[in-house]
Amino acid sequence: MPNIRSVTEEELAAQRAVMDRLAEANAALPAAPLAWVDTYGCQQNEADSEMIRGMLREMGYGFTESEAEADLIVVNTCAVRGHAELRALGNVGALSHTKRAKPGQKIALCGCMVQQEHMREKIRQSFPYVDLVFGTHELWRFPELLEKTLLPHRGRIFEARQIDGERYEGLPVLRAGGVRAWLPIMSGCNNFCSYCIVPYVRGRERSRSPETILAEARKLIEDGYKEIYLLGQNVNSYGKDLGGGEDFPWLLREIGSMEGEYVIRFMTSHPKDATERLFETMAGCGKVEKHIHLPFQSGNDRVLKEMNRGYTGEIYRQKAAFARKLMPDIAITSDVIVGFPGETEEEFADTLRLVEEVRFDMLFTFLYSPRVGTPAAAMPDPFTKEEKQARFDRLLAAQNAVSAEMQAAHVGKTYRVLIDGEGDKPGQLTARSSHNRLIHLEGDKSLVGSFRNARITGSTTWSLSAELTGEEA
Ligand code: SAH
Ligand code: SF4
Ligand code: F3S
Repeated sequence: MPNIRSVTEEELAAQRAVMDRLAEANAALPAAPLAWVDTYGCQQNEADSEMIRGMLREMGYGFTESEAEADLIVVNTCAVRGHAELRALGNVGALSHTKRAKPGQKIALCGCMVQQEHMREKIRQSFPYVDLVFGTHELWRFPELLEKTLLPHRGRIFEARQIDGERYEGLPVLRAGGVRAWLPIMSGCNNFCSYCIVPYVRGRERSRSPETILAEARKLIEDGYKEIYLLGQNVNSYGKDLGGGEDFPWLLREIGSMEGEYVIRFMTSHPKDATERLFETMAGCGKVEKHIHLPFQSGNDRVLKEMNRGYTGEIYRQKAAFARKLMPDIAITSDVIVGFPGETEEEFADTLRLVEEVRFDMLFTFLYSPRVGTPAAAMPDPFTKEEKQARFDRLLAAQNAVSAEMQAAHVGKTYRVLIDGEGDKPGQLTARSSHNRLIHLEGDKSLVGSFRNARITGSTTWSLSAELTGEEA
């Protein structure tokens, strides 16, 4: 059994007291100090950064996106692939100059990358100007850790407990605003796919309480958000740790029955837990958009087994077919890994075949990246980088052909779209269809945040163009 405790009310009150203290100190300054929060990785990390910004706002900070101007820089990192780590480290490297030009600037690193011991060691050795490093389980302690960091001559602070996880609620959140709101429903992951670092850096699955989620959803709708994005590493296992009758389809139905003009999306779904009940709920609930991100990772059964995914290529195909039978218009998107240790040419061919058969609306293709401490990193890996890259390129070409055809099939159709932002040029807008297609169209910016009907007039591999039909949707 995982060892998960709830953070006590006293502990949270202590953090609030720190926030009040810092707010008072900052209010006495001639100008509010400025913070820059830079985020890598997935939407969960974006949601965590919104919590960091929420706490910073309570502590009297303003915000900037200029590292030169910032009094405090917080880099929220990702560890999912080597590339994500290198990018964050490269940018942190560049901050040594910024800090030299702005004495007194504080630099903090947090998130999944620094939850790993070897990465904290690297930062200790190679990035002496980083003042504060805190792991994923310390997020709620950020006020206390920041206050210590700001004390004169305090020295550097490194905190990252290796625990299964803690539950807490009620920290402030500062959302980016606009049309879309992230709503985390759970954290952590119990699946231990053999290639993946997430369960090690995010701890065990913790579902948030249904009451809190529903109250937050209601508030988001009242506040005018139009798209509520439910987040979790595997939303389909929502509720399993709560011991009540609540599960993810239940949650979808509860949120979907709220009054108001909004839609619901969610991410990510693990195929092994994507049940018929989930698809039936999606089909039956008008507020739930018809899109599912259902990563398949490999089309070969031996590789899937080595990955510890808990399904076969055939089971995956059946689930996708079931979803499409219920919802002929549903968009299915996916993730796939090329070059898992020992994956042979024939095994890769099974992945290619699955991509050609299932026909994903969009596919995120990743080259396998060994992660320290995961079982896959210890497996023999005889294939060269060049061989893997060549397969990757073939897979990409196959998917691009599928994507182009799938996109072209939308031309001439009229969809209800959510206008979610302004385009690059004046008079241009961006929108999303229920299938989560990116759509460019022309119209006045006052339309942002409204649902409209739009006729699709053109397509590329990545986006559609459309014109408004004039009617409100
Ligand atoms: N919880 C989600 C995935 C989160 S990570 C799920 O299971 O669907 C996002 C994607 O990164 C994964 O779907 C996988 O395709 C990819 N990924 C994870 N670990 C990886 C690794 N070590 N190398 C390459 N890609 C990886
Ligand atoms: Fe990683 Fe698998 Fe968990 Fe997804 S389900 S986060 S791939 S371990
Ligand atoms: Fe990266 Fe952590 Fe998300 S490893 S993908 S930021 S859960």
